[in-house]
Amino acid sequence: MTDTAAGEAARAERGEGYAVNAPYYDLIIPRDHWNAVAAALAGLLKEAGTIAEIGAGTGYFTRAMLESLGPDTEIFAIEPARVMRTGLVTRLAALEPGAAARVTVLPEDAMAADPGTPLDAVVLLNCVMHFAPDDRERLWRRWAERLRPGGLLIVEAQYPQRAEDVPASVVPGASLGRYRYETHSRAEAVGDGLVRWINTYRTLEGDALVREETAEFDCHVISDATLAAELAAAGLRPAGPDPAEASGLHVWRR
Ligand SMILES: C[S@@+](CC[C@H](N)C(=O)[O-])C[C@H]1O[C@@H](n2cnc3c(N)ncnc32)[C@H](O)[C@@H]1O
Repeated sequence: MTDTAAGEAARAERGEGYAVNAPYYDLIIPRDHWNAVAAALAGLLKEAGTIAEIGAGTGYFTRAMLESLGPDTEIFAIEPARVMRTGLVTRLAALEPGAAARVTVLPEDAMAADPGTPLDAVVLLNCVMHFAPDDRERLWRRWAERLRPGGLLIVEAQYPQRAEDVPASVVPGASLGRYRYETHSRAEAVGDGLVRWINTYRTLEGDALVREETAEFDCHVISDATLAAELAAAGLRPAGPDPAEASGLHVWRR
């Protein structure tokens, strides 16, 4: 695996990337969009019994799926970065026992984790940009093989769609006590199909800056056309709806 794929868990162990991002994660997510994605998942996965979620992070969508899907749904939440998995396990441990019994956390990365049971769905959200083209070929094949015939693979559309600079923007986050949080985000094209996201997490009290920390992530650019070609090569077929109608989610079927 390239550095960018296996590397995020290792970078986090060194205090980089997700180690910087994790303490802010649940405060800085674009909540309206994420709630729309969670609602789309609830509709798309209503028939799914067994689901693998790759790169579950702190478990925002894990919990949303557990709460919105039926009592027979089981989730395998795969999260290799220890610091993110801490958030994930803390969130899941606080669930009521019925929901907690339906989720298993796997600490391996996507190339090693194995739920050991056929799957009705594989979900990757805000994660696929960490995989280089060669790794993605293996990633799609590995998880397509684990799907039951008719099972779904769901992955969100990527931004940007080509390796180009993305101008700086401010993403407002939530408040906690006296502090509010926001992210200043921009990206630079740094190579063949790669952009470097530079995210500065700011803590403010009123208008006064209390603290700021920056994390950088080198991310692979994957256009919708590239994604479609790769998923088709792995033996999957498009299952609709159009990503624009599904909060940016691409839905493919084995
Ligand atoms: C931006 S976070 C998204 C978390 C969650 N899916 C969400 O949308 O909130 C990306 C996650 O992918 C994980 N990740 C990175 N490389 C991975 C790999 N090779 N296998 C599985 N997960 C990986 C990271 O540790 C991180 O928690």
